[in-house]
Amino acid sequence: MIDIHCHILPGIDDGAKDMVEALALINLAVEDGVKRIVVTPHLHLGRFDNHLPVIESSFSALQQEVDKANISVELAYAAEVRLDSEILSLLASQKLPLYGRYNNQQFMLLEFPHSHIPAGSDILVKHLLKKNITPVIAHPERNRDLLKSPTKIKTFVDLGCWFQVTASSITGGFGEECQALALHYIEQDLIQIIASDAHNLKRRPPMLSAARSKITELFGEDKAQQLFYDNPYNITASLFER
Ligand SMILES: [Fe+2]
Repeated sequence: MIDIHCHILPGIDDGAKDMVEALALINLAVEDGVKRIVVTPHLHLGRFDNHLPVIESSFSALQQEVDKANISVELAYAAEVRLDSEILSLLASQKLPLYGRYNNQQFMLLEFPHSHIPAGSDILVKHLLKKNITPVIAHPERNRDLLKSPTKIKTFVDLGCWFQVTASSITGGFGEECQALALHYIEQDLIQIIASDAHNLKRRPPMLSAARSKITELFGEDKAQQLFYDNPYNITASLFER
């Protein structure tokens, strides 16, 4: 499996606190069957100002420690970018961490606030699409607007966004409502990616295999292969070539 959404870089967001925890998270992911990880620290302007140079230096420290510990895993980096019109200037100055290139598009993990979908979100999404960047909207099943009105996702589906569901939503870790919405969207073929969104060892660990089993049981092996391997592989493969 491949995990393309997790907060493993130590000390730069609300994920791993330090290098010890970062390595423990990676070991846990590897034990669970993950071979490739794209770390995605929050880039939330004013709170976590993790633009590209910050992430690059933190990543190279982590890579060194992983090499030293001889852990068999491939690592790359992007970011979970919080919706904010200011991200367009980071994009212009090439400081916005993106996923890779696939089908002439670049992909970007985009986070809405959990409370709602802000007015004008579709305008920002259109700007990104015009620049050949396809947003991958993080965990729509946890957004309160979408929990109330699931069809509101349609605006972003019609624009061509991709969507990432969080593995523990599938197994009930965020409650029944999130679980039901996640499965409903998957059944409607609206979701392209499942990832861990891991933050720590106890409450939000980097586990995918339980969710993968559940998806296989409910929707079949082909669907599980798409969500846990093919789609995440395709949009991040070019990150592993640099
Ligand atoms: Fe996240």
